[in-house]
Amino acid sequence: MSAHHRQLSLQAAAALLIFSLAWPYYYLRATAWDWAPVAAAIGGAAFAAARLTRQPWWWQIIHLLFAPLLWAGLQLQISPLWYLGMFMALFLIFRGAASGQIPLYLSGANTAPRLAALLPRQARMLDIGAGIGSLLLPLGSQRPDLHLSGIENAPLPWLAGWLRTRGKGIAWCWGDLWQHRLAPYQTVYCFLSPAPMIALWHKACQEMHPGALFISKAFPIPGQVPEALAGPAENPVDRLYIYRIPG
Ligand SMILES: C[S@@+](CC[C@H](N)C(=O)[O-])C[C@H]1O[C@@H](n2cnc3c(N)ncnc32)[C@H](O)[C@@H]1O
Repeated sequence: MSAHHRQLSLQAAAALLIFSLAWPYYYLRATAWDWAPVAAAIGGAAFAAARLTRQPWWWQIIHLLFAPLLWAGLQLQISPLWYLGMFMALFLIFRGAASGQIPLYLSGANTAPRLAALLPRQARMLDIGAGIGSLLLPLGSQRPDLHLSGIENAPLPWLAGWLRTRGKGIAWCWGDLWQHRLAPYQTVYCFLSPAPMIALWHKACQEMHPGALFISKAFPIPGQVPEALAGPAENPVDRLYIYRIPG
């Protein structure tokens, strides 16, 4: 069961439990449902279930607050168009989180100089899930000899990256990283999440040439030993895991 489904099931189980207790309670008292305590009880039950099943702490808080906040939001009587608008805006920015558990966050300023120091001259490098170009732009100014490309599939980050990289010699592509052939690149860089790493490594091994580099920031490939590491050992989020495609 995926992480999404597990959390959804916990919240649904808590709601079902509370509804099945609340229904006879309000029926026997012949009163209308009071939704505030029902929402609070669902939050409490979901929190207890999340704690008992040892979900990560941030999920426990989300479970505790979800139903009460839903109730509070409904009290505000905001036009449903606002919710639709907010959903659309979030989807346009965080499409990757919804479709593949890969949200948008940006490589820090330290990453470009680290890559600049280790990439071979004139290498072709692709940033898969390139965000708004915050890695490619500084890397391009520090290493003008490189041939840099980025691919992104969330509409607003793609647009921001396209505007920022225009005229800078960076090939900025719209598309799904899983459909993009990796063969032309001597280096593929990614800063994604733990979820896609094994499948991505298989794709890289199938498509990239032996000896090419696959570099992942923050997220190692389970079961693979990197050829080298770069960045501070005390800050795993800032580490680069450098793998070489086997022959
Ligand atoms: C953590 S951000 C990294 C951004 C940039 N590479 C950097 O280092 O600053 C990951 C990016 O991957 C994008 N992404 C997620 N799934 C994708 C997919 N299937 N195809 C293309 N891009 C994707 C997300 O929209 C997000 O912008």
